[in-house]
Formats: sequence, C-alpha cells, structure tokens
Amino acid sequence: MAPAQVEETPSKTVQELPKNYIYKGGDAGTLGTSPSYIDIPTIDFSLLSSPTCGKKELEKLCSALTSWGCVQIINHGIDPAFMDKVDEVGKQFFGLPLEEKKKYARENGSYDGYMNHIIDSKDQAFDWIDRLHLVTKPEDKRQLKLWPENPQSFREILHEYTAKIEKLNEMLLKAIARALNLEENCFLDMYGEEASMLSIFNLYPPCPRPDLAIGLKPHADASVFTYLIQDKEVEGLQFQKDDQWYRVPVIPGAFVINVGDQIEIMSNGIFKSPIHRVVTNTERGRMSLVMFCFPNPNKEIEPVKGLVTGTRPRLYKTMKDYTSIVVENYQKGRRPIEAAKI
Ligand code: OGA
Ligand code: NI
Repeated sequence: MAPAQVEETPSKTVQELPKNYIYKGGDAGTLGTSPSYIDIPTIDFSLLSSPTCGKKELEKLCSALTSWGCVQIINHGIDPAFMDKVDEVGKQFFGLPLEEKKKYARENGSYDGYMNHIIDSKDQAFDWIDRLHLVTKPEDKRQLKLWPENPQSFREILHEYTAKIEKLNEMLLKAIARALNLEENCFLDMYGEEASMLSIFNLYPPCPRPDLAIGLKPHADASVFTYLIQDKEVEGLQFQKDDQWYRVPVIPGAFVINVGDQIEIMSNGIFKSPIHRVVTNTERGRMSLVMFCFPNPNKEIEPVKGLVTGTRPRLYKTMKDYTSIVVENYQKGRRPIEAAKI
C-alpha cells in the first residue's frame, strides 16, 4: 500500500491531544533543516560468508559499525516482498478508525499496545508519533489480545517476521565476531537463547510545524541490535555524529541496522550505540517498523574476553536486565549506558 493511505488518514491520536508538542531539546534549532546524508555503506549481506569477497564486506561492516554505529544491508535473505507485507499490515492497522485501534490500547502497567508515548519526564514535549508496541519474544510474554486481528493476517505476519529477524540477528552476531577475528559464537553465546524481541510500528503523521515538533526525541537504543524497515518513500530518521545530524536515505528492501547499548558493552566500546532521532514533515506521513533484539533479562552481559586487552582495558561492568535501568536513567536525564561504564 502506498503511503498515500497514511496521508489520507492522519493520526487522530496526535490531533486529539491538547498537549504541548513544542520541543525544546538542545537540538531543537536543527529541526526543519535538511542536513547532509549519512556516509554509511550498504552492505551486501549475502557476501559476508563468501570465501572471495567476504573479507572486504566484513571490513566495510565493521568500519561502519565502528564509526557510525549503523549500516544499511541488502540481500539479507528476507524477501523484500515479505517486508512489503509487514509494512502493509502496519499501514492497514494505522489506517483503521481510532475506535478500532483503541481496542488494542496500552493498559496501565504495561508498555505493550497502541498509543504509546515515551515520556521520560513531565516537562517534556510529546513526540509527534503514534506507536504500536508489541513484545514478540519470548512467546509466553506475548500479549496476544493487543495484537491486532484487523488486518486479519497481522498476527501471522508478525510471528513470521519475528522468526526471520531472529535468524538475521544470529547471522549478524556471528559476522561481527568474524570481522573482529574472534571466535564466531562469542557474541551469540553471551546473547544466549530465549532472547527477547520487541517490535514497534511507528507512525509519524504529517506535521504542520516540523520546525517545532519532533517525531522521536534523540535517544540511543537499549537493544543489542535494532532492525528497522523504513518507510519506502518518506525519510525522517537522522543519526548524530560529532554533534552534527545526518539523514538516512531510503533504500527500498534494505534494513537499517543500528548498534544498541548492549552490543556497545559486549564489544567493549568498539561499536558505539548512536544517538538518533526522527523528524517530521508537512506533506507526508511516514511509517517505520523497528525490531529490537535483547538478551534474556536473566543473562549477564559484559565485554567479551577477546576485546579486553592490555592496551584496551575493560570499559563496562557486567550487566543484567539492562532494559530495567533505562527508564530510571532517562528520568534522571542521563544515558543508561553511562551507568554501565566503569
Ligand atoms: C526507535 C527508532 C526510528 C524510526 O523506534 O527507537 O529509532 O525511523 N525509530 O522510526
Ligand atoms: Ni531508536
């Protein structure tokens, strides 16, 4: 479905809220500007295990994750036609009347469901966004009553998509180990089995004042890696490097993958979890789907042995249930990764 569907049905949630959307963060002055494109390579994922070109592609991957903390990948084994289906069920859901969407509304005490606003403290502005937040793994943590039944194929597609990303994430964890000349399973073993996955469908409706409101405030992800399907036609995601913002081009069929705090810890800071944000525009709605991969909360994570050396001392503590420290730290106005540093 074309994003026109989104334009025709701009979110009523955002319009309904008589709250203050005027964003006053330190980067507010750069809203409504059009920064340069990010300089990251597009990695051909199918080449990573090739005996002939694998090494070069692994180097490209490693260098992008080291310098920017993000990369775009193609030929990742997930059929772009299937990605379109995932995108389509998301857009169909957001296109439903508000009353229908509210059947899946978030309940108190849980983050899952529709209409999530991540408000870290009372004096913050709202993000110009509607979200559908669903834990997809482990399966016994799924709140199926909040998984839309409209469109009918939604649950099945999200289930299938979760399995595909789980596999891709395993391949990536192995690839980065090879890229760093480490034992192939060192990250994967620490990540462990019974991991957690969280999917969030984000809808950024057209916004009358993209210079004043923000789609998603600057943040870093608490995941190991984050897998993003961007809107195929509408840009909006930006990454920060050396205090500058850079926008991410749209490459249909590609994933944007970014380093999360937990792989920063496991890589002893070689890969940095980048700050990113989403800006809005007046013309067109944008939908994205993020999938966050987290280790099981009972699993301890720490820098892998091979990356702690005489010249590179250990920089991070052993952490467990990292996501539980996230909210607490944001409320104090500091990045959770700071709490993990030695
Ligand atoms: C997020 C995020 C980016 C986007 O949900 O954490 O960074 O493009 N989303 O929606
Ligand atoms: Ni993010």
